Amino acid sequence: MLSDRAGRIAPSATFAMKAKAEALKARGTKVYNFSTGEPDFAMPGISKEAVKEALAKDFTSYTAVSGVPKLKKAIVEKFKRENGLDYEASQVIAGSGAKQILYSIFQGLLNPGDEVIVPSPYWVSYSEQIRLAEGNPIFVETSHEFNLDPIAIEKAVSGKTKAILLNSPCNPTGAVIEKDVLEKIADIAVEKGIFVVSDEVYEHFLYDGARHTSIASLGEEIKEKTLTVNAVSKSYAMTGLRLGWVAGPKEIIKALTSFQGHSSGNPATLSQSAAIAALNSDQKSVAEMRKAFEKRRKMVVAGLSEIEGIECLSPKGAFYVFPYVNGFFKGSIGNSFDFCDAMLENAHVSLVPGGAFGRDECARLSYAASEEMLEKGLEAMKKLLENKR
Ligand SMILES: Cc1ncc(COP(=O)(O)O)c(C=O)c1O
Repeated sequence: MLSDRAGRIAPSATFAMKAKAEALKARGTKVYNFSTGEPDFAMPGISKEAVKEALAKDFTSYTAVSGVPKLKKAIVEKFKRENGLDYEASQVIAGSGAKQILYSIFQGLLNPGDEVIVPSPYWVSYSEQIRLAEGNPIFVETSHEFNLDPIAIEKAVSGKTKAILLNSPCNPTGAVIEKDVLEKIADIAVEKGIFVVSDEVYEHFLYDGARHTSIASLGEEIKEKTLTVNAVSKSYAMTGLRLGWVAGPKEIIKALTSFQGHSSGNPATLSQSAAIAALNSDQKSVAEMRKAFEKRRKMVVAGLSEIEGIECLSPKGAFYVFPYVNGFFKGSIGNSFDFCDAMLENAHVSLVPGGAFGRDECARLSYAASEEMLEKGLEAMKKLLENKR
């Protein structure tokens, strides 16, 4: 039989939704898929060339567990250039995607019963990864507009609190945490001696003049307590290459490297080559994607806001909107899971239920899809929902 640990884990709602949509597609139905969390762009040409070159040079053997020196140098330079952060190579470890890096972090930081404060709504894997490390996620609700209140964070701190998890821009809400809020959270973390795990994988997707601040850049003391996580997955449309990293205090990185040495080992060599090329590139591909997302975001927020019964905020980051759909909770639709099932079955639109992210009144729509697809999908939703009120 399965271990207790395996029995405690909830399956990923995003993958479950994807599977349902795939099944419908296999039956010949055209599905408007707005449930996946990845850019619908190709990876940069320069990275494709780097992979070809690496292959030609038979760069396919084991490397240093934490990544080759060239990759770590590129990551160190990226932190300096984009985040105003000075790290040494020994303060960085690269692994197989941000997800695997976060998994190692919780394994490395938590003892049984330790608590991690997680602002809610939250990305589905945080809670499960914390539980897998025998820790307890302590959810702190953000406001109706998904703003984080530092006082609520402070109130959630207990004698067992080991870390505060931050994810800005946020999946699923698209919310961006303002600098003044980060400063207050940094003060709390430093004063109470708590770590901050800052997941910044969506940092480049910002709109309406929003700016990204790495909490570690707010001072030496908070830098000493922060683990800054990032990846090439979203920024460079390389989700399948599985390459992410974390920077932080040397002794923690050393422990994570030992842990990784006995779990996944080094990140894939070809992915390391692709990442080096992307990180050292002129960054035009990132700017192009951001621009395309900005246009789609406008279109999606306007389209959803036209539907009576939906409340859609205009988030300042990532490539998601997280509208309130609870205006449709009646009859056979009792919650966000029923709502998304009805959307898929009757409008062939695939969304992810907000309940999976800790706010059941909402549903997540990823606008990492073509404008044509978004237009048609929104139309199908509108048509269906007009008859449901
Ligand atoms: C907030 C957040 N962090 C981390 C990840 C995982 O990134 P990676 O594909 O690099 O493992 C995702 C992917 O959806 C995410 O949304």
